[in-house]
Amino acid sequence: MLQKDPLSYAHQFEEKYGSEVNKCPYRMTFHLMPKVGWLNDPNGLCQFHGLYHVCFQYTPQDVHGGGGYWGHATSLDLLHWDLHDPIIYGTQKAERDGVYSGSALVDNDQIYFFYTGTYKEEGAYDYTDDGRISSQMMVTSIDGFHTSDKKILLENKDYPDDMTLHIRDPKVWKDDRYHMILGARKRAYEDGQRKDWGGALIYASDDLSHWSLEKRYFPKKRFGYMWECPDFFTLEGHQVLSYCPQGVPHGTMHFQNTYPSGYHLMEDETHFHEWDYGFDFYAPQTFEDEKGRRLLIGWAGMPDTPAFQNLTVTHHWQHALTLPRELVYEEGLVKQKIIGEWNQLPWQEVSLPGVYNWAHQVVYLTASNIKSPLEIILGTSDNALQIRIDQDLITLAFAAGARCGGGRTRRFAKAQRPITQIALCLDSSIVEIFVNDGEFVMTTRLYLEETERYLSVSHQKDISLKVIED
Ligand code: FRU
Repeated sequence: MLQKDPLSYAHQFEEKYGSEVNKCPYRMTFHLMPKVGWLNDPNGLCQFHGLYHVCFQYTPQDVHGGGGYWGHATSLDLLHWDLHDPIIYGTQKAERDGVYSGSALVDNDQIYFFYTGTYKEEGAYDYTDDGRISSQMMVTSIDGFHTSDKKILLENKDYPDDMTLHIRDPKVWKDDRYHMILGARKRAYEDGQRKDWGGALIYASDDLSHWSLEKRYFPKKRFGYMWECPDFFTLEGHQVLSYCPQGVPHGTMHFQNTYPSGYHLMEDETHFHEWDYGFDFYAPQTFEDEKGRRLLIGWAGMPDTPAFQNLTVTHHWQHALTLPRELVYEEGLVKQKIIGEWNQLPWQEVSLPGVYNWAHQVVYLTASNIKSPLEIILGTSDNALQIRIDQDLITLAFAAGARCGGGRTRRFAKAQRPITQIALCLDSSIVEIFVNDGEFVMTTRLYLEETERYLSVSHQKDISLKVIED
């Protein structure tokens, strides 16, 4: 639905729910959250004239989502965020039903934002083969806050005939030309049954306005029915393709969430590495900052998980983004490192007595030279998250019936080698656990009341505990 005045419409809900949201005990200190309502994918990540801009899928009017806006935040250090008015919202027919995910490109001393405008015709359509118009759109900004007129770059007629209408989430970069990678769902059949294939389409342009299809990228073996939020970048000469394949069968150690997200190196296309093995991670996007770092931010959330009761909903907000992570190529992997800015916060080292109470503190715990098993408990005897390391296996387990899990149970991950090092960033209702110096991360929301915020570790050798008042 196009609103007559989309900004006033958003303000109305931000004013209505703002004070209730701010009273919520689960608000975080260093994580980007919506002012009110619902947040999903990170969008339009860039650094422009020193300032980091992070946008996100935003629904101020409905805590259960539905879209309508790109929320907008800026930061000088990627940890302290200022939330601004939404920067992109539906004003045209092509985006009547959503300004879906997309990216930013800084070039010619301005920001170009790319995103998918969605229009759904009224009627009995399946919105996969008919009834949906997916338009790739562009808007520019010379100051990072105000935008120019919008342009439609690609629409249904520009996609190959064997594609469904699910073509979205443009990520644009510049090399010898401009390139745009789009998530795609190809119409396909197996034994007479419909079995669509996920993949990506790559378009090229010399002027950012005119685009033509350069390449279709579909794996040799079917891997999901649709790929969302693709990203492509090079790290030390290694080409990396990141994407979110939907419809991959669940396993015990892999693909435990509704939808996975991960990457493969183009030199080893058969090996998909999941970015994160926690309960809450999806739709990551990367960008290169002015220091030349490749940073990744994900949605600390997961779509389509009906059993999950997010305890922030009664406070009229839902979801957050992860901390930014620096990507580094090491030993055939893309490792995710804690950003230097986090280490530079004014941490206070504390000694770890039997049980530590972190009611009003952000916590940074690192453990090195780990001797298995190691157990870390966050919470109380009957309401806790247990983190257990046993050789190469790490398990996250919410105690049976633990309210702080919001209905979740367990997640497992196996490292390539015995786990000897972890770093745990704990900020009110989120914990991000970096395993073996960033081989993978486990991101999970947990909802402990302030009076329940305890931490204990099974043995305390080579553990460093640092805190900061929130
Ligand atoms: C991923 C996603 C994207 C889409 C956006 C809409 O979570 O489904 O593919 O652009 O969310 O909010």
